[in-house]
Amino acid sequence: MVKEKILVTAALPYANGPLHVGHAIGAYIPADVYVRFNRMKGNDVVFVGGTDEHGTPIAVAAEKEGVSPQVIVDRYHEAIKKSFVDLGISFDNFSRTTRPIHYELSQQFFKDILEKGYIYKKVVERPYCNSCKRFLPDRYVRGTCPHCGSKDERGDQCEACGKQLEPHELKDSYCVTCRNPPVMKATEHWFFKLSEFSAKLHGWIEENRHWPDNARNFSLGWIKEGLEDRAITRDLSWGVPVPIEGAKGKVLYVWFDAPIGYISATKEWAQKIGKPGEWKKYWQMPDTKIVHFLGKDNIPFHAIIWPAMLMAHGQYTLPWQVSSNEYLTLEGKKMSTSRNWVLWLHDALTAYDTDVIRYYLLSINPEKKDADFSLKDFQGKTNSELIGTYGNFVNRSMSFLERSGSVVPKVTAFDALDEKMQELIRESPEKVGKHLAHFKFLDALKELMAIAHCGNEYFQKKEPWKNENATTLYLCANLCRTLAILSYPFLPFTSEKIWKMLGLEGKVSECRWEDAGELAVREGHRIGKVFTLFKKIEDDEIAAFGKKYLSTEKKEEQKMDANCLEYEEFKKTELRIGVIKEVVEHPKADKLYVLKVDLGEPALRQIVAGIRNYYKKEELLGKHVVVVANLKPAELRGVLSEGMLLAADVDGKAILLVPDKEAPVGSKIR
Ligand code: 2FM
Ligand code: ZN
Repeated sequence: MVKEKILVTAALPYANGPLHVGHAIGAYIPADVYVRFNRMKGNDVVFVGGTDEHGTPIAVAAEKEGVSPQVIVDRYHEAIKKSFVDLGISFDNFSRTTRPIHYELSQQFFKDILEKGYIYKKVVERPYCNSCKRFLPDRYVRGTCPHCGSKDERGDQCEACGKQLEPHELKDSYCVTCRNPPVMKATEHWFFKLSEFSAKLHGWIEENRHWPDNARNFSLGWIKEGLEDRAITRDLSWGVPVPIEGAKGKVLYVWFDAPIGYISATKEWAQKIGKPGEWKKYWQMPDTKIVHFLGKDNIPFHAIIWPAMLMAHGQYTLPWQVSSNEYLTLEGKKMSTSRNWVLWLHDALTAYDTDVIRYYLLSINPEKKDADFSLKDFQGKTNSELIGTYGNFVNRSMSFLERSGSVVPKVTAFDALDEKMQELIRESPEKVGKHLAHFKFLDALKELMAIAHCGNEYFQKKEPWKNENATTLYLCANLCRTLAILSYPFLPFTSEKIWKMLGLEGKVSECRWEDAGELAVREGHRIGKVFTLFKKIEDDEIAAFGKKYLSTEKKEEQKMDANCLEYEEFKKTELRIGVIKEVVEHPKADKLYVLKVDLGEPALRQIVAGIRNYYKKEELLGKHVVVVANLKPAELRGVLSEGMLLAADVDGKAILLVPDKEAPVGSKIR
């Protein structure tokens, strides 16, 4: 059979925070399933990933913590990499967009398409902060969404209504660093002529009938609306410098350099394996299938902008597939890191085996529509499907065999049921494989479970504990082997365990997919030691898990704790007198107020305080209070808080500390 060349990528996550379960199933698990399957098919596969280490989210996170962006990306690159290892994502190379190889390639890419006339310079008006003395990239500006009225939304997109925004469209906008309103000021930027690629993109996407509907429909719709040229540079110090004279202080827009990261990660892989030119086999020869895995929010970049960049460049292969998942919600609510509503991958992987998490996420894979992660469903599916169907078949077959002496018996005769089972084994690689080849992960997993289910039915009908059982045990041992091979892409760790239990040579990862259809466990073969594969999830256990990892209340407390100062640090605490100028209810927490406090600074401070049960608004307005003024700003339930009020705790009730005599705002407390 002709081997296919396949280069698989999974979206490069921003190195500004850990991964949650939504990320895991959004791109990485499906990509890994696809890759493991294709390796077993004997195809020539390279799987690359890495962290996306530029962009304003990282610069903003660094400023908030008062460290350099490098510190942030170093920290999260390691954390993300570890999560991927723990999740069993089998990258051939996991790179970073801050590596020199990536800088060189992205700068060269920019110069190449500039030379070809697809980039031009233009003066534009961008928000500028007079007090910080710098241009403000989209995420440095916040304000009220013009569409839905939600407050404190980012300048690029409203989290509440999802609309894409330009920072100047926000009402009452302010600089996230100093809270002053920005002004519009002229600055020069470089634009990519996206508009020129409309017709070419349209024709190309029309032909790509194997793309998922979401990617096709979105892209065709966007082209119909009219593609506009896009600014591909930013006024920012963190990023890949624009590689031309007169571009001091400008960097490439993160979405310009990030996808080039797929190529630089492949180049790096080629260097690592000692064949530096090998990357060209994948990126510069049109017979390679480039397959991108990504979440829905990344569709515009992978299905339109990136292909247009590649078309402009002309020397790289265009994507063949854009496999884009819909969203995962958590207990019916949209996941959000800023609102503290997420299940972190490292937490899930601490509490449960990798394959238990992989199984559940794959069983609800948001392939065509959004899916919901719920603890109850997780418990139910694990216990009834993974353990009740799949684990049960393997367990009862292997235990029976062990009790019968651990040796596969001599086959005596085949009845109709046995014939059917034999046929099922023979047909199974095709049954599961055809779905995997077409990115239908849900159907593939269903088929796999249906095979395990048939195994259980067969075992039940044959009643080997009553009847002559040699053929039954022989076929059951073989079906266990079949399941080990076919479940390898989904449950790589479990599948190797079954292999070991079966006492077979080598590893599942070394098998060919088609091997699953053979009756290769022969009579006389001695199996290994039998053990149970999974542990049932009990009610109290899942409740404790939810309490520990899913409660926002808990997380708020931890966050508050994290803000507290150590005693030794007390001297560093800056306490000042402030006067409360504005009091509003926190939109999402009924114990909290959002206050605006005058500390004698150019702008009012916003402070989120848990005193709503103890003070009426009018009691607070105009009150002089003591403020901890040098705490790092932190978001509390999605609202930025830039300080704390001092209060006495009397039987759990807060009583504010106030100055005894009149003290002017801003006075320091010693
Ligand atoms: O949405 C994200 O997390 C981006 N960092 C994805 C980038 S994908 C690619 F282009 F690198
Ligand atoms: Zn500012």
